[in-house]
Amino acid sequence: MSTCDQVIYQLALNFITGGEEVEYMNTPKLLIVGSGTMGSGIAQVAAERGLEVVLYDMKREQIDKALTTINGLLQKKVDKGKLAQDEKDSILARIQAVDSLGEKAAACDFVIEAIFENFAAKVQLFQELDKVCKPEAIIISNTSTLSISKMAEAFRDPTRFMGMHFFSPVPVMRLVEVVRGEKTSDATLAKGMELVAALGKTGVIVKDIPGFLVNRINCLMYNEAARLVEAGVTTAADVDLAMKLGMNHPMGPLEMIDMAGIDVATSALEALYEMTGNEAYKPAGILQQMVKEGRCGRKTGKGFYDYN
Ligand SMILES: NC(=O)c1ccc[n+]([C@@H]2O[C@H](COP(=O)([O-])OP(=O)(O)OC[C@H]3O[C@@H](n4cnc5c(N)ncnc54)[C@H](O)[C@@H]3O)[C@@H](O)[C@H]2O)c1
Repeated sequence: MSTCDQVIYQLALNFITGGEEVEYMNTPKLLIVGSGTMGSGIAQVAAERGLEVVLYDMKREQIDKALTTINGLLQKKVDKGKLAQDEKDSILARIQAVDSLGEKAAACDFVIEAIFENFAAKVQLFQELDKVCKPEAIIISNTSTLSISKMAEAFRDPTRFMGMHFFSPVPVMRLVEVVRGEKTSDATLAKGMELVAALGKTGVIVKDIPGFLVNRINCLMYNEAARLVEAGVTTAADVDLAMKLGMNHPMGPLEMIDMAGIDVATSALEALYEMTGNEAYKPAGILQQMVKEGRCGRKTGKGFYDYN
């Protein structure tokens, strides 16, 4: 970590600890529950930034897979001369895998939940965390679509619960949407923002609305792009070219959903349409048709573009 990063980090630590003088080594402990795509990425970033990480997943093999992935990504940095071997070893040593939500989990200052996107499963986990964690711990959900305010009902003290929507791949993407539930307190929100800073990310605060901020806007863009192609106004290639050259987007909206999966993009629109009632989110006919035909983008070899 650079000197500049250490100063920012120390400021963040001071805030987290209520402004008390703390040693640099007195780092906040972060429990991550769920070590899939997101949990693994968050664990890597946190450990790289000097936080002590406790990593738990209901499947031990998922933790081992996450540790192998993190090791591989760090090794690439070592091979490129961007990271010293001893720094890599220290980063890995800061991630402690656990097989249960026991004592080590109870000692954590922050918990980030990154399990399956299932309301009942998350609520059940939160009820367990409510019993296990220390009373001042801040609990965070990385949900993409579920209501923070509704999930907050799982806690005796819902003021210490908030959302934090990371983007994939976590080590690369700089933004975190910091989601304020109806009962999230100012202090929790402030500590959450400091955690985001300590992770080297930039946070934007958003109220607990369906799709938060980025997906709310992004879904409209790709739905409209698909509608224009469907109406024969232009071609997929020209839509993408226009958005890249005219708006400086690194990728066109249709290339982007071919990569994410047309089925995934269509389900996101359906969910937003159901939650908001806004016709603009109703999936374009062409998207629904493509899903029916199995033209789901790169993963199926065909989407708006042909990958065969
Ligand atoms: N993948 C993305 O691009 C992305 C982006 C932003 C947010 N999210 C959100 O992050 C969360 C995780 O997504 P992901 O893509 O990492 O999922 P994933 O399927 O890759 O990983 C989920 C992990 O959670 C574990 N798990 C499930 N239930 C558990 C429980 N009760 N206790 C402990 N572990 C449990 C699973 O074994 C699995 O390893 C979801 O809420 C998702 O909506 C995903």
